[in-house]
Amino acid sequence: MNVEVFADPETLADAAADWIAKVLLDAHGERVSLGLSGGSTPGATYQRLRGMPAAWERVDAWLADERWVPHNHADSNGLMAEELLLSHVDATFYRPRWAPWLEPEESAAHYEAVLRSIHPTAGPDLVLLGIGTDGHTASLFPGTAALSIERRWYVANEVPHLDTWRLTASIPFLHRAQKVCFLVAGAEKAEALAAVAAGEDLPATLVANGVSDTTWLIDRAAAANLST
Ligand code: 6PG
Repeated sequence: MNVEVFADPETLADAAADWIAKVLLDAHGERVSLGLSGGSTPGATYQRLRGMPAAWERVDAWLADERWVPHNHADSNGLMAEELLLSHVDATFYRPRWAPWLEPEESAAHYEAVLRSIHPTAGPDLVLLGIGTDGHTASLFPGTAALSIERRWYVANEVPHLDTWRLTASIPFLHRAQKVCFLVAGAEKAEALAAVAAGEDLPATLVANGVSDTTWLIDRAAAANLST
């Protein structure tokens, strides 16, 4: 577990943007696959990334998860990623389909086909993830059906306690990534982060325990409960 702790969210975002840009530049291959996390944490990093050289023209960006909302909805991870980063760089952005007549699973199956087309042989080069206070990551929430997916890469996942559907990368697909980077900031994440570090059976632990090269970029507040 490669962990780097930074003084505050701003310093974390600066370092994370530098680290991500270097990973993208160092990646081999004609195309570079970048999975983006949603939520609020990565926003500052995405804003810093937009000004950095990262051979963006060869980057294929996609979403580790998405809320089941219209593309222009304030809760959309795709809208956030587009506004803060992808509309400012020359990357190709693949978003899951949404339409009022579309079922979540239809959209997930279509998006999986798109992901399989842009990952014909190897897995993603880098996937950025966050964690929730309950230890979820992407939209893999504790006790939800998506956690038991064994072959699919992308699925619709009903999240009863949020009374909503989400679209999410599956654990098998996330485990195909060369590198996974968890961005975690804030005191409210300290308990979940310590639980993952202790190996508790949480979605973030399951993802972090794959064969991907996993890095944790966290701020001091989120690291408060980690044993030094
Ligand atoms: C989402 C995210 C989710 C997020 C965590 C942490 O759709 O919300 O993909 O997995 O990373 O919930 O969210 P914050 O960064 O807002 O704390």
